[in-house]
Amino acid sequence: MTDLHTRGAAPGLSDAFCARFGLRYPLLLSPMAGACTADMVCSVTASGGLGSFGAAGLSIQQLEALCADLKQRCPGPYNINLFSPDTESPLPDPHIPVDLAAVLRTMHDAAGLGDLPPPLPLFGPALDQLEVLLAAKVPVISFHFGISTDIVDKIRAAGSRVICTATSPEEARALSGAGVDAIIAQGEEAGGHRGTFLGGEMQPLRELIPAIAAATDLPVIAAGGLCHGRQIRQAIDAGAAAVQVGTAFLPCSDSPAASRWKHNLVNLQRDALTVTRAISGKPAQGIRTTFVEQLAPLEHSFLPYPWHYSLSRELRQAAVKQDDERYMVMWSGTGIDSIGAADLKLTIREKFRQLVTQAGWD
Ligand SMILES: Cc1cc2nc3c(=O)[nH]c(=O)nc-3n(C[C@H](O)[C@H](O)[C@H](O)COP(=O)(O)O)c2cc1C
Repeated sequence: MTDLHTRGAAPGLSDAFCARFGLRYPLLLSPMAGACTADMVCSVTASGGLGSFGAAGLSIQQLEALCADLKQRCPGPYNINLFSPDTESPLPDPHIPVDLAAVLRTMHDAAGLGDLPPPLPLFGPALDQLEVLLAAKVPVISFHFGISTDIVDKIRAAGSRVICTATSPEEARALSGAGVDAIIAQGEEAGGHRGTFLGGEMQPLRELIPAIAAATDLPVIAAGGLCHGRQIRQAIDAGAAAVQVGTAFLPCSDSPAASRWKHNLVNLQRDALTVTRAISGKPAQGIRTTFVEQLAPLEHSFLPYPWHYSLSRELRQAAVKQDDERYMVMWSGTGIDSIGAADLKLTIREKFRQLVTQAGWD
């Protein structure tokens, strides 16, 4: 693995983590499907962390282009993230239930759109995507929603490192048994999809970190609500070897998040957040919108994930173009409380540096 960075000042477990992954600081950019760019990845890696790209929704051609681009210009290790192939299944009945279709049609009319699009599997196929990553010798490959031993074996045989999200000690034990290199402990504070794959309730990060650290010998990467270096410090003190940070980078001037999304991150607090299945069919945390409020009572009619997500694809694209927050998807973690207007002016590199300084690593 490329090791271009000098080791940083983070002590103990973090030192070992940095050495193993070739990093200066034990800070990973969250892979954020739909809200990341290759430039963001390069900025975090160039700053001494691990840049990550959420690639679950990319076609094979897009993924090949991304791999070639990152290989050529990323100045150190990077991570490309996929969703578990276990989340893929055929749609038994493509018919959209009448009550759901009626609400979606009203929204389409309000946005000036035509008929509802037919359901599509939005992500994957993960095994085909994985072949691209293996051929490109991507340094780190991460998964959301679990991963099996045969896939981990394949990745390690190709010389890449593999990490995966867990939301409970049971999931951490399963991942450890599958042979991953490190475990992302995702607390209930996290923005975006819960990476749960064995069921159960989400836990606060401060309880989850020691529980997962006790359940496995693997390095724990803490994720969820970490938007200030003080919180990062607390996660490390609780037993994490590293942290994965998403929401804190979204308001930055060079993040691809829509301007309305950034505006809301700056101006809203955690009481504006909700955990909902209304957007994709799987529970995820983000800013409450008209879309979420109107669909939430129709849960009985949702199509299975990810088919349900695809029903709103035209609406979501139009919402960004028309700056219409009613139908936007604005994932956010509870760290939204620490985000202020000054964050809009920071670049990803400046935000990274600020977090490192606040965490006391420099
Ligand atoms: C906009 C957004 C998109 C996300 N997309 C992904 C993804 O594609 N793959 C993944 O493993 N995790 C994804 N996550 C979850 C992150 O891995 C991580 O758990 C989360 O960012 C941590 O919480 P924080 O956002 O409060 O820092 C996403 C999170 C956000 C905010």
